[in-house]
Amino acid sequence: TTSLDIAVIGGDGIGPEVVAEALKVLDAATSEVSVSSTEYDLGARRWHATGETLPDSILEELRGHDAILLGAIGDPSVPSGVLERGVLLPLRFALDHYVNLRPARLYPGVTSPLSAEVTANGLDFVVVREGTEGPYVGNGGALRVGTPAEVATEVSVNTRFGIERVVRDAFERAQARPRKHLTLVHKHNVLVHAGHLWRRTLEEVGAEYPDVEIAYNHVDAATIYLATDPARFDVIVTDNLFGDIITDIAAAVAGGIGLAASGNINPSREAPSMFEPVHGSAPDIAGQGLADPTAAILSASMLLDHVGHGDAAARVEAAVAADLAERGERARSTSEIGDAIAGRL
Ligand code: IPM
Ligand code: MN
Repeated sequence: TTSLDIAVIGGDGIGPEVVAEALKVLDAATSEVSVSSTEYDLGARRWHATGETLPDSILEELRGHDAILLGAIGDPSVPSGVLERGVLLPLRFALDHYVNLRPARLYPGVTSPLSAEVTANGLDFVVVREGTEGPYVGNGGALRVGTPAEVATEVSVNTRFGIERVVRDAFERAQARPRKHLTLVHKHNVLVHAGHLWRRTLEEVGAEYPDVEIAYNHVDAATIYLATDPARFDVIVTDNLFGDIITDIAAAVAGGIGLAASGNINPSREAPSMFEPVHGSAPDIAGQGLADPTAAILSASMLLDHVGHGDAAARVEAAVAADLAERGERARSTSEIGDAIAGRL
């Protein structure tokens, strides 16, 4: 047997509930792997109790695990931005998660808000969202706050190095898929500096992948196509903020945010990658057993795949697909869904 040592950050709101189901399924899927998990207490509770967000000592411990499974970070009892900028983004940045991988796939039996005509053409694409740059780096500031002359800036940082590595990853993923199609989403008609750097980099790296077909959409147009013709997309590569926005639309058209999984991936493997549902902490339904753990479970499947247990990953995904196909209208609790999926393994 091989072993798998994961760090678990339940976090805030529904995070701990959905992560518990993901761990249940992970255990059921890995009879040949000895899985150990260590829980880390990060999020609102820790901040209220200690004022800490992400202590250096915890960050160092996290580095020692094979992968991280995260529930959700963010709580209305904490000022907006404190936990996001203090826990989640520092993890992504410090562990160099430059590929934020967000698949969107409409599983059989799942209802999309799009019409049957639209989804008949297929809905199965993956967004490669850059994870370490863009407006997320915190390069900006405010002047004369609270006065009529107040100024606020958030400067988007785009480096050739950062764009090239994520674009190359997206080409690799596109090349490995049957359609071999890659769409760059940006806004180079307005964001001329960053936009042209992204476009040039795509073209230059693309010369190494002559069998991958390239397309380009401005982000506003991309939102139209996501809602009217998602079948055109295979792999999308985009910057951190555009990727944040379009992956919520992608989740919605693929059956809802309760099903959307993601991986914050460091392809160099010099630090552990982190897997988390795309959804947030949903404080309004926390603690009631109402949250759908499917996104967390599919994130655990991505984790297994990343750490080299592709077979177990595929079994988890198949168990989720089978559950989704038979789900119907009957309401089930968080743990009932987790039990049902684990029970198929
Ligand atoms: C996400 C979330 C985060 C993001 C927030 C909570 C910082 O919306 O993972 O999509 O913007 O990346
Ligand atoms: Mn988001």
